[in-house]
Amino acid sequence: MDVFEAIDTLISIRRIKDTPVEEWKIERILSAAVKAPSGANTQPWEFIVVKDPEVKKRIAEINRRGASIYLEARIVKLEPKRRQYLEDCLQRMHNIPVMIILCLNREKKLVSRPKGFEEASRKMEEIVAYASVFPAMQNMLLAARALELGCWITMYHLYFEDEFRHLLNIPNYIEPLAIINIGYPKGRFKPAQRRPYTEVTHRERWEKNL
Ligand SMILES: Cc1cc2nc3c(=O)[nH]c(=O)nc-3n(C[C@H](O)[C@H](O)[C@H](O)COP(=O)(O)O)c2cc1C
Repeated sequence: MDVFEAIDTLISIRRIKDTPVEEWKIERILSAAVKAPSGANTQPWEFIVVKDPEVKKRIAEINRRGASIYLEARIVKLEPKRRQYLEDCLQRMHNIPVMIILCLNREKKLVSRPKGFEEASRKMEEIVAYASVFPAMQNMLLAARALELGCWITMYHLYFEDEFRHLLNIPNYIEPLAIINIGYPKGRFKPAQRRPYTEVTHRERWEKNL
């Protein structure tokens, strides 16, 4: 598949078939992940691949609890139909064949704190840390798309991070950032609906009222 077709039709797939995902496809997705760029080539990513039905059940349960906290407190409420759809997907999440937990390894960082720039350095370190794992996630999503697999990212486990760490035996220098749920879609891939780039692109300098 052409890379632009993959990019233009990369949408969240929340309704996923139970059909198992071939191991070679999981490995291809992971090998695409680790080709991503990272600050100073620190490659601070780690992945936990979960297929065990019992563990997926526990992850799905933590996620569902987190999601209801998030959804209840959302300032802009989801319309009832959309909320029902999301709750149905959360209810079935444990059936998704593969979950890959994307983690940040806090020990893999480059520290540089020039005198007089301590605050800016700390900010830079924090931004670079997260920005050094999310390109790997994007590679995974694109690789999955090219293999006709759908992905659903969830982060609701972060409301119960200690419990989640305990479940998966995650040490404290590893941050579990996102769950990438992967499998064959029940529906079809469609063009992603986004604001056009002309609305968000400034030429030469910041322009108000584009
Ligand atoms: C960093 C990140 C976190 C996300 N977290 C969630 C999540 O917790 N639950 C969820 O249903 N979707 C999550 N998503 C998916 C977005 O909601 C989705 O990409 C966005 O609404 C656009 O919809 P589309 O991908 O279907 O076009 C996340 C996406 C990103 C990039």
